[in-house]
Amino acid sequence: MATSINSGDTHRKPRTIMEPFKIKVVDDLPFPTRERREANLLEAGYNLFLVKAREVTFDFLTDSGTTAMSAQQWGAMMVADESYAGSKSYEKFEKVVKDLTGYQYLIPTHQGRAAERLLFSARLKPGMKIPSNNHFDTTRANIEQMGAEAVDLVIEEGKNPASTHPFKGNIDLVKLDEFCRLNRDVIPLGMLTITNNTGGGQPVSLENIRGASAIYRKHQIPFILDACRFAENSYFVKEREPGQNERTVKDIAKETFGLADGCMMSAKKDALVNIGGFIALKANDWVETLRGLLILTEGFPTYGGLAARDLEAMAVGLEEVLEERYLAYRIAVSRYMAKGLNDLGIPTVQPAGGHAVYVDAKAFLPKIPSEQYPGQALVVEFYRTLGIRSCEIGSVMFGSWANGKFQPSAMELVRLAFPRRVYTQSHFDYIIEGMEEVVANKSQIRGLKMVHTPPFLRHFTARFDLA
Ligand code: F0G
Repeated sequence: MATSINSGDTHRKPRTIMEPFKIKVVDDLPFPTRERREANLLEAGYNLFLVKAREVTFDFLTDSGTTAMSAQQWGAMMVADESYAGSKSYEKFEKVVKDLTGYQYLIPTHQGRAAERLLFSARLKPGMKIPSNNHFDTTRANIEQMGAEAVDLVIEEGKNPASTHPFKGNIDLVKLDEFCRLNRDVIPLGMLTITNNTGGGQPVSLENIRGASAIYRKHQIPFILDACRFAENSYFVKEREPGQNERTVKDIAKETFGLADGCMMSAKKDALVNIGGFIALKANDWVETLRGLLILTEGFPTYGGLAARDLEAMAVGLEEVLEERYLAYRIAVSRYMAKGLNDLGIPTVQPAGGHAVYVDAKAFLPKIPSEQYPGQALVVEFYRTLGIRSCEIGSVMFGSWANGKFQPSAMELVRLAFPRRVYTQSHFDYIIEGMEEVVANKSQIRGLKMVHTPPFLRHFTARFDLA
């Protein structure tokens, strides 16, 4: 029987989300004054990417590379073997990955997008197509860089913020089968992102992974997982999928990997480290080419752009992340924040995702039109009121002007992404309490105009003024 969140008991279900760790090293929580936050906003042109981290109280920009590592991880780093070739740390890392995934071939990289660049430059040619539920931005960009097309086939519920479907990350199996049938000759590999970051950190069911696996196999298309949040996905499967509750999360994760031919992994998420990644593959057909490219751009095959201490930290992190008490806490945190916001009348994408809560800024600020960036206006308000740094995923990122007419993004979202093991429930309670002020001041929130528009990836460096 599954233990209830963190109590260690099977009979009690505490309401409190207790962090399943004690704190050994602490860091300052910056508390810039309100005046200072106002000044920072002006100086940064209302773009939170341009605000210094020491001016941010709660940094929810990303869950990537922002994990607090454990004493075991730091300890392992101290005993790392920094040999250029064949280090003991690589052996340890390889053993953990093989045990978890069942894949025999491992290619370490410095982060997820380096894995993407290697795999895609080895396998893609112009005109090819790669299906997935949703491709993450860097995945899409690396596919397009090769002249190929990234095709999203997520189920319809995955595009509807209000839908409470338990597996909104699922790929549409009917569309996938048809897509593979029509394009078989130009699909060098098929993908699935677990959890689906682009769709709100939503999980993919095991049944759907099995279905995608069968379709890819039928069409003889290698199946590669984007597995950076595999543990969170496996926990959702255990919690929500009929018949899965009695299994361990590790067992579910193993079955998930076993259904694919390989994976790409940004270890900065569910390997609980600040840097790292890898490709792992069942068969060796692509391995020689990939290792050749790895040597060319990342490093020797037994360290791939990392220090051996990073390999040690990943090896420990990949095991720690499957502790069910940790995952129960992790998933409860996003759910708690979403409920806290919803109770105050701040709408979020339903249900809460694994690593983040996505606020629906269009629904919360209906008077601000898309061309005045309601998402960015809310990002600014969260910082002004509470010192929170969040990220707009809306018309700043995806909108454009064509023939004097503004083309908005389909949704105006603000992502609050939660670093792993960094903030506590009292931080969350403090934030939810402070959000009352955001709601009370809602009518005062002003739209923005973009006064500096960089040509590429403009959300990182654009500057704004009040509209
Ligand atoms: N795939 C997914 C699903 C991701 O979420 C990310 C990164 C990557 C690949 C690329 O990995 O950053 O190690 O190169 N997501 C981060 C985020 C940046 O904030 O969601 P990376």
